[in-house]
Amino acid sequence: MNKVEIRPGIYSVGAVDWNVRSFHGYSTDRGATYNAYLIVDEKIALIDTVKEPFAEELIRRVSQIVDMDKIDYIVSNHVEMDHSGALPQVMKHAVNATIITAAPSGLKGLQAHYGTGYHYQAVKAGDIVSLGKRSLTFVGTPMLHWPDNMVTYCPEEKILFSNDAFGQHFSSNMPFDVQVDLNAVYQEAKKYYANILMPYGMQAKKALDIVKGLELEMICPSHGIIWTKHIPDILNMYEKYCTQQPERAACIVFDSMWHSTEKMAHAVLEGFSRAGIPAKLYDLKVNHVSDIMTDILISEYVAVGSPTLNNQMLPTVAAFLCYMKGLAPKGRKGLAFGSYGWGGQSIPQVAESLEGMGFELVCQPLKQAYVPSEESLNSLEETVFQAVK
Ligand code: FEO
Repeated sequence: MNKVEIRPGIYSVGAVDWNVRSFHGYSTDRGATYNAYLIVDEKIALIDTVKEPFAEELIRRVSQIVDMDKIDYIVSNHVEMDHSGALPQVMKHAVNATIITAAPSGLKGLQAHYGTGYHYQAVKAGDIVSLGKRSLTFVGTPMLHWPDNMVTYCPEEKILFSNDAFGQHFSSNMPFDVQVDLNAVYQEAKKYYANILMPYGMQAKKALDIVKGLELEMICPSHGIIWTKHIPDILNMYEKYCTQQPERAACIVFDSMWHSTEKMAHAVLEGFSRAGIPAKLYDLKVNHVSDIMTDILISEYVAVGSPTLNNQMLPTVAAFLCYMKGLAPKGRKGLAFGSYGWGGQSIPQVAESLEGMGFELVCQPLKQAYVPSEESLNSLEETVFQAVK
C-alpha cells in the first residue's frame, strides 16, 4: 500500500496487518493496522511508528514523500511496541530527528526499550511544538492504557492524533470512516474498548472531557480507520462505556465435560428469557474470551458455569475469570452454576471469584450432582427467573 494524503501535507504512512489474528491474546478477526502520520511543514513530524516487522514499509512510504533525514520530530504518543517497535530502524535513517515523548513515563519507557542514545524531548500537557504554519500540542492520557500515553493535537488542522484511544483492530485500504462498513468498525471499536481500555474508565472519562473541548475535524487513531463524519458517534460510545452503565442484558459463560453444565447453562438462559432480559450463551470451547468481554462490557448480568475437575473449576473457566478480573468490569451482577460428581468445589470457587471482582451474586451458587433431570432444570430456570425478574 502507498502513502495516503489525508489532508494537504498530511499523510497516512502506517501499515496494514491484514492477517494477524491475535494481538497479545486478543483475537483480531478483521486484522489490524498500525497507523503513523507524516506532517510536512517547515518542520517535518512523524506521529508514531509501526510494529517492528513493518518498519521497512513505513520507511518506504515516508521516503515517497520526503527524505528520511529531513524528519525533524518523531512523536511517540505511546511506548508500546506496536507503535514504537520500528523506532530503531527509523532512527537509522531519520538521523536528525528528535523523539518527542511524554515526561516522565514516555521517556523512561522509550529509554528502557531502545536506550539513551537518541535525542529525546520530554513534553508535558500543554507544551507546544511549532512546525511552521502548524503546531502540535500534547494532552496527557496516562493509563489509557499505559502510564506514558498521550495524544497529540494539531489546532490549525483540528486533528487529534489519538494513538490507542478511539482505535479499532480493523484492516482496510480505505482510511476514513465514511469509506468502510461502519457497523463492523463500531463492533471493533467496542471490542477494543472492552479488551484494552475497560479497566481505566475514570482516566478515559477525564481524557474524553478534554477531547470534547477541542475543535475536531479528524481523529486519527493508531489502529483502524480515521474518524471524520462519525466523530460524535465514537465520542458518544466512549462516554457510555467509560461511565460503566451496563444494559439490562446477560452473558452466560460456561464450559462442560459431559453436557450437564451445558444443560444448566441453557436453563439459566431460559430464566433470563422469561424475565425479558436479552442474554447470550458462550461455550468457552468455541468462543474467544475477547469476544465474550465485548458483550460483557454492556451487560449487567454475568453467569459463569463450570463442572468440577480434580477439585477445581475447569482451566478454561479459570482462564476466563482471570481475564475478566484484569478488565475489572464494575457494577455487575453474577451467578455461579455447575455440575459435579462428588466434591463440587468448582461452583463455590466460581462464586468466590465473582464476588472477589465486586459482583453482587443474585442467588446462591447453583450446584447439580451428575446429570440434571428435567425437574431440576425447571427448578433452576425458576430460581434464575425469580432472582432477575
Ligand atoms: Fe496500540 Fe497500547 O498499543
